[in-house]
Amino acid sequence: MTAIQARAPALSDLYRPIAAALESSDRIFREELASDQPFLRDLCDHVARFHGKRLRPALLLLVADACGGLRSEHEVLAAVVEMVHIATLVHDDVLDEADVRRKAPTVNRLCGNEQAVLVGDYLISHSFHLCASLQSQSASRIIAATSNTVCEGEMMQVANRDNLDLTERQYYDIIGRKTASLTAACCLLGAEFAVRDEALVERMREFGWSLGIAFQITDDLLDITGDEDEAGKSLGRDVHKGKLTLPLMHFLQTAPREQRSAAIELLRGDRADRHLRIAAMLSESASIDYAREAAESNIRRAVEILQALPASASRESLTTMAEFVLARRQ
Ligand code: IPE
Ligand code: IPE
Ligand code: MG
Ligand code: MG
Repeated sequence: MTAIQARAPALSDLYRPIAAALESSDRIFREELASDQPFLRDLCDHVARFHGKRLRPALLLLVADACGGLRSEHEVLAAVVEMVHIATLVHDDVLDEADVRRKAPTVNRLCGNEQAVLVGDYLISHSFHLCASLQSQSASRIIAATSNTVCEGEMMQVANRDNLDLTERQYYDIIGRKTASLTAACCLLGAEFAVRDEALVERMREFGWSLGIAFQITDDLLDITGDEDEAGKSLGRDVHKGKLTLPLMHFLQTAPREQRSAAIELLRGDRADRHLRIAAMLSESASIDYAREAAESNIRRAVEILQALPASASRESLTTMAEFVLARRQ
């Protein structure tokens, strides 16, 4: 792999090979959520207007194109995975009591938790409704199984709130389910609907898995070291919500006893600035680099897997996307 870039590549460049398909999938997404109820229309407009990076639909379409078989079903599937993703974000922001998402107020901030729970449900049921419009049942099975797994990941995370003894194994299990399962499903669906080559489909699923693990480790680093304006979402929530992530786990395992005790006192306390104090402690330790190296090693694996694909502009984009995942600040 080329040296990891310090600056994140521009997403519009990466998406060029699939720009038209991505646009169609945006349209399908908006049409699926059209409602005659003004209140719902406003909320769905809010969700569609403040769109995020669209990494999951782009991933699905790029994999399909790189496998040599981008078809109209992929455009529907790309809208489906983005809908599942947004549903999980809307619910996740309730759990995390987050105020900002995609540089805009979260749904819970705008209309309260009750509405946010319902909007998340509404999005997930629409994603199933849209997916069921395809001939194939296998897509619906994959999407449903993935949603089950994402829910398991989020529930395991809540069950482990304030668990200072969380092991790396448990951490990887949680982030695998809550994040990598969906990126893996995107790549699996992209490949499965493009080629009849089981081995290649499986390699693409593995690519999406490694990318997703790296994506969440980077996200957990951003929660500590990132800038809220740049990220466009509330940060520091992991510490406030008692979520142990890789850098903090490494710190608790390796820091000198006094520092470890100071960090635990902060984690058990209720200081409003405890996330900043913990971030300051971590910044002087080797724990940030440790987590970054873990993300990098997953990206190296992901990029290696891409060699199974024939050379193409979409394969190039997938490689650059892997670099983006490490360098991103948003
Ligand atoms: C945020 O995902 C949720 C995580 C899995 C960390 P993204 O960073 O892809 O969110 P958007 O779609 O760009 O807003
Ligand atoms: C959430 O992880 C991942 C989901 C499956 C929704 P985070 O809680 O770290 O995501 P952000 O930081 O709020 O985007
Ligand atoms: Mg969150
Ligand atoms: Mg996060």
